[in-house]
Amino acid sequence: MSDQLKTQLMASNKLPRHVAMIMDGNGRWAQRQGKRRVMGHKAGVDRVREAVKVSRELGIESLTLFAFSSENWQRPADEVSLLMELFFTVLSREVSKLHRNNVKLKVIGDTSRFSDKLQQKIAKAEDKTKDNSGLILNVAANYGGRWDITQACQQLAAKVAAGEMSATDISEEAIEQHICTAQLPALDLMIRTGGDCRISNFLLWQAAYSELHFSATLWPDFGETEYLDILANFANVERRFGCTSEQVSASLQE
Ligand code: FPP
Repeated sequence: MSDQLKTQLMASNKLPRHVAMIMDGNGRWAQRQGKRRVMGHKAGVDRVREAVKVSRELGIESLTLFAFSSENWQRPADEVSLLMELFFTVLSREVSKLHRNNVKLKVIGDTSRFSDKLQQKIAKAEDKTKDNSGLILNVAANYGGRWDITQACQQLAAKVAAGEMSATDISEEAIEQHICTAQLPALDLMIRTGGDCRISNFLLWQAAYSELHFSATLWPDFGETEYLDILANFANVERRFGCTSEQVSASLQE
């Protein structure tokens, strides 16, 4: 069934080019089973693998995953350090496989707060996969949407101070070119698991016109079937970008 749906989706030409996921619910998933929260994050890694595989098979160009937010540092110290270890292990274990599958890995966020060892691991993984032409997998780590817009503004302010541009050149396009996702297709679809209906400072700028899908499923239970259903719904949504339905139909007929 899922193979048939995949074929239909690919033939529909209505797949999103860029999908983002807020992988929420790991802690609750573990606690419901009487396990430590970190076991939920570990189980979540299997779902990351699955989401990457489905996205890759469908030819989605870019997948952005919220792995660690700027606010996650406030969690208990042992959970933060276990999450850091998990990123390190996942990068060590998975990068060759990502490379074999032509996936280009990119970490977005302020990684300067991570240990030197983790920063080196990230740099190596990015370098190894930098020429791959398949799925672009962005892992948002120590990322915040407000931070992203702020760092873009800082880059532009520095250019103004250096006389490379004037303040009136700071346009939406200029900001767009300096946010972390500048090289990627516009964000089409954001999925959040775990039951909460908010975007928690994820891709704030990028989500302006994206479709939002909130799922009650806890991330470690989020599998291929649900992802494909969400993509099938996306394929049926009319995206108007502020225009009328008639205008959208007319532009599709041009
Ligand atoms: C939110 O669940 C999840 C996280 C803060 C971490 C997500 C990390 C992974 C899935 C593993 C590593 C991924 C990569 C890409 C290397 P939560 O703990 O807030 O869950 P809760 O809402 O139930 O407490």
